[in-house]
This record gives sequence, C-alpha cells and structure tokens, in this order.
Amino acid sequence: MLQTFGSRQGDTMFITFEGLDGSGKTTQARQIAAYLRERGHDVLLTREPGGTSIGDQIRTVLHSLDNTAMHPHAELLLYNASRAQLVAEVLRPHLEAGGIVICDRFYDSTLAYQGYGHNLDLKMLKAIVSFATGGLKPDLTLYLDITPEDGLARRKQASLFGEEWNRLDDMELDFHRRVYKGYQALMKAESKRFARINAMQTVEQIQAEAVRMVEKKLATRR
Ligand code: TMP
Repeated sequence: MLQTFGSRQGDTMFITFEGLDGSGKTTQARQIAAYLRERGHDVLLTREPGGTSIGDQIRTVLHSLDNTAMHPHAELLLYNASRAQLVAEVLRPHLEAGGIVICDRFYDSTLAYQGYGHNLDLKMLKAIVSFATGGLKPDLTLYLDITPEDGLARRKQASLFGEEWNRLDDMELDFHRRVYKGYQALMKAESKRFARINAMQTVEQIQAEAVRMVEKKLATRR
C-alpha cells in the first residue's frame, strides 16, 4: 500500500498565483508549496504555459523571441491549448485525488494579457477559457501587486543574470500598463477569490502574508 504518512487528504484546494512579470510569484509559489508539503499536504506545483510535455512544447513556441509575427488570436489559442492539456492531464486528477494544486498563472493571465493587453473581447475569451478548463476555477488567487515599471525593471535585472527574457516581456510598456489595469478590474469583480499582496515587500514579508491567506482559506474549507 502506498504510504501517505502525515498526508492531509481532504484538504483539496486549487491555488493560483498571478501578477505582472517581475512580481516574484514564481519564488512565492515554490515557497508555499514547500510550506504545505512540510505540513503533510499532497501538493502539486505547476505553471502556465507548460506543466505537461505538450504544454512545455507550446510554451517554447509562445515565448520564442523569433515569433514576433504571432497573431494575438494564435497566441490566445496556444495559451488555452496548453491549459486544456494541463487541466485534463494533471490538475483534475490531482484535485480529485484530494491534493492541493498550486499553479503559477492560470486563466486570469489570459483575461489580463490577451483581454486587456491585446484588447480582445472578454466575453469571447471567457467562453474559450471555459472550454479549455471545463469550468475549473481556482479557490484562491494570490495576486502579487507590482507596477509595470517596477516589474519590468526587475525582469531586466534578472535577465542579466540568466533568467529568460521572453516575447511577452518584450512588449511595449503600454501593453504592460493595460495588463496592470486588467488585473485591477479582475480583482474588483471577484474580490472574494483574489487576495492582493504588495510585491515590493521583502520575500519573507510576502511569504508570511501568503501563508496567512492560504491558512485562512484552508480553515474555511474544513
Ligand atoms: P512567466 O512564466 O514568466 O510567468 O511568463 C509567462 C508569460 O506568458 C507572461 O508574460 C504572461 C504570459 N501569459 C499570457 O499572456 N497569457 C496566459 O494565458 C498565460 C498563462 C501567460
């Protein structure tokens, strides 16, 4: 029999991290995953685009700086192709088995980047997202709040030290400003699901807030 010592089955929860590039959400997602694992939860940490073999191949196409000719409609469908694969292959099975999923970006990124960034119709986007996810929604979305100016400055700095600088990073500042506004609108529309954290704090301060929010959500679900 598979030994799941200390595992807290039944605390199933779907947590997503959102924010502009450079907000530090990837670091925070990793740390929350480690925190929950230490407490016996069965945690799956993944990301979008990617998280599956097919999704990782799509990610390469989406992020390649060679693909400047990519049409926003093609971009939209590729993100959602990766998402459909991730939901079916990884997310649903893990949640149905009673585990916790932590995903670095999910469909809010599509609404913010393709919807507000590229000005694509939100109603159409929501229909496509719903098709890709089969209606799966996060229970909690931690939004790491950073301005486009601060976010891009951090990304540029990080890219000097070998981090990926991708096609989306390369969009003009106005694009990132629209994305920022988009996130504000999404949070306002679903204030119960979103929790905002100031991303200009130290890594430790952000982590403490994230832990508090996750614990609070877990407590309401027991
Ligand atoms: P990241 O892995 O560094 O967060 O980069 C992912 C990039 O892809 C980021 O610039 C946001 C963008 N993105 C979208 O535009 N739409 C989406 O649906 C997703 C998941 C990501």
